[in-house]
Amino acid sequence: MSDKRHTFATDAITVTWSKARCIHAAECVRRLPMVFEPGRRPWVTPDAASADRVAQVVEACPTGALQHTRHDGGAAEAAPTVNTVRLTRNGPTYLKGRLELIGPDGEVAMRETRMAICRCGASRHKPLCDNAHREAGFSDAGAISDLDSVQDPGAPGGALRVIPHANGPLQLEGPFALASADGATMLTGTSTWLCRCGQSQSKPFCDGSHAAAGFTAEGVPD
Ligand code: SF4
Ligand code: FES
Repeated sequence: MSDKRHTFATDAITVTWSKARCIHAAECVRRLPMVFEPGRRPWVTPDAASADRVAQVVEACPTGALQHTRHDGGAAEAAPTVNTVRLTRNGPTYLKGRLELIGPDGEVAMRETRMAICRCGASRHKPLCDNAHREAGFSDAGAISDLDSVQDPGAPGGALRVIPHANGPLQLEGPFALASADGATMLTGTSTWLCRCGQSQSKPFCDGSHAAAGFTAEGVPD
């Protein structure tokens, strides 16, 4: 997918924004409207608040569309010690932590602290979400159905490998905590397979429905 970045800089901080990865979750607009104002040009004005506050809000962007680099000695973004995988109602899965997205060649294509993964199957930027779930009418409460689908509760720490499989599910390998959209269920584990075609009857886990659905997507060949 294209991750062309727009740049907004002051002497203290540079903020970059990827239009392709922004799904208008509006965390930034809600938290710091004087800096992030859709419709204004430029829509990001990092000089309208302290660099610390701008960095804090950038790090709350769930998709990774916003990133920052400090020039004033302020701290770079640190990955949380626990990798979290949070389902959203009728929308993507938000990942946060030490993330390694694996490309179709089996190599790390992206190292990130935040990303939103498509789980409706309709994104044009798979494996990342591009808001296509809205048009597609994707409906899922983000509950966790099968508590046995997450294996090997392990020690926290270490990177989470995010592995999209060709025409099939998303494999997670590494320590993570998986949370339902309402936060009521939380499972920890080191291995699971998540549906990304939108058709599984056991969401968020893959149940093999992608084959009958004719789901096609780039990923690591099986
Ligand atoms: S928080 Fe991130 S995804 Fe949401 S509107 Fe801002 S830039 Fe876009
Ligand atoms: S990816 Fe959806 S059922 Fe396997």
